[in-house]
Amino acid sequence: MGLLSGKTALITGAARGIGRAIALTFAREGANIAFTDLKYDEHIQSLEEEIRAMGLKARGYASDASSFEDCERVVGEILNEFEKVDVLVNNAGITRDTLLMRMTEADWDLVIKVNLKSVFNMTKAIQGSMLKQRSGSIINMSSVVGVRGNAGQSNYSASKAGLIGFTKSIAQELGTRSIRCNAIAPGFIETDMTSKLSDDVRANWIKTIPLRRGGTPGDVAKLALFLASDLSGYITGQVISVCGGMST
Ligand code: NAI
Repeated sequence: MGLLSGKTALITGAARGIGRAIALTFAREGANIAFTDLKYDEHIQSLEEEIRAMGLKARGYASDASSFEDCERVVGEILNEFEKVDVLVNNAGITRDTLLMRMTEADWDLVIKVNLKSVFNMTKAIQGSMLKQRSGSIINMSSVVGVRGNAGQSNYSASKAGLIGFTKSIAQELGTRSIRCNAIAPGFIETDMTSKLSDDVRANWIKTIPLRRGGTPGDVAKLALFLASDLSGYITGQVISVCGGMST
């Protein structure tokens, strides 16, 4: 028996990076996996195949988490196909980094829409089914910069800080129905998102990390597994960092 045997998890933005690692980690613990990303491509297809090869149900859906209508549609399709969702991981996110001086209104609006509004969209779409089953775990992907800020990331930091307020509020709204809601605050994790950074910026980040290395998507996935499973059954409304000590 795995930690998530018999459970279904829904993960947004899971074609690559942290979301993909979470999907595979959950599947190794026995969960059926529904996941989304912007378009149906070879990344989605290979993840479906990898999970199905473990004898589990898996389907990737092309869906834009920042669109309210699209989230309603895709959650409806997923509930039809999988019958229930026990764990929702709101993982999809983007950066448009620049100093406020150069930041455009479009840079601001897009990051807030993809990183913050998406979490409202997906959580609202799924809450009815979780309320009915009187259980669920919702995990929101925040960031250490949502807690402490970062020059050049005011839009991203604001979106990730907003997620923390949302997480704590939903934990209070849904706790009486045994639905938990927590946030993960990763530090510097080696994915496509951070590979865009220059060598200098990267070296400066690594200097601030007591463990002196970037994290792996698997490091984040292990925390997500803990929060998804009954191991964290008495934990809700919390923000937990996985950052090599960076935030302290
Ligand atoms: P990534 O860029 O490697 O992967 C993100 C995935 O989300 C991509 O597959 C992308 O296509 C998808 N996506 C983007 N917009 C979407 C939308 N509107 N709807 C559906 N899918 C969408 O990024 P990474 O590093 O795996 O990040 C995952 C989450 O972790 C993000 O929320 C990010 O902000 C957060 N995070 C990442 C850190 C890092 O150092 N990599 C640090 C802290 C937080």
